[in-house]
Amino acid sequence: MKFFIDTADLDEIREAADMGVLDGVTTNPSLAMKAGASNFEEHIYKICELADDVSAEVVSTEYDAMVAEGRKLAQIHEHVTVKVPMIREGVKAIETLSNEGIRINCTLIFSPTQALVAAKAGATYVSPFIGRLDDISSNGMDLIASIRTIFDNYAYDTQILAASIRHPMHVVEAAELGADVATMPFDTLDKLIKHPLTDRGLEKFLADWDKLQEQKAGQPA
Ligand code: G3P
Repeated sequence: MKFFIDTADLDEIREAADMGVLDGVTTNPSLAMKAGASNFEEHIYKICELADDVSAEVVSTEYDAMVAEGRKLAQIHEHVTVKVPMIREGVKAIETLSNEGIRINCTLIFSPTQALVAAKAGATYVSPFIGRLDDISSNGMDLIASIRTIFDNYAYDTQILAASIRHPMHVVEAAELGADVATMPFDTLDKLIKHPLTDRGLEKFLADWDKLQEQKAGQPA
């Protein structure tokens, strides 16, 4: 499973990249706003210098403008993946841009049919939003399972990028269901490596090691 971090915060991206397990970054206009990325193109370039696959979202909603914006974003850096929302004009733009060899992440996916259409249009990734479905008493994981079945039935190579992940169990369940990528906030990535028994075990090992050094120091030369 690929790990992406869902942020535009350069410090968080640097920290995650230093862990050595980061495969990419996803951003959206809300995350860009939170990171104060007013010079968006320059900001995306900086992220691309830290990560190999960086989703940058178009904000136009008409086909011509979406295509022009997508081409411009793709020119920022070879690591850019253009994020396009799942609307009718977006589907047309996905078809055009993906035929030009531009990687597309089709975002705001909330149903299996939306994922199927995005795959047919040539998207590299579809981003089902798990947490936002859970928020409205739907089961986000059911969507991941359904998309996995559909893509496998027809051998689509579009990758399932589980998004709107809120906690480690979302990552576990998405991995069990065969999602190709999980994009998560830095805090969730950090939580993946935490376990109280690990901390307690290490504390005991180090305390015993100190005792051993004391014993050694107390022995006659
Ligand atoms: O990047 C899209 C998605 O991951 C947003 O997550 O937490 O705002 O629903 P969230």
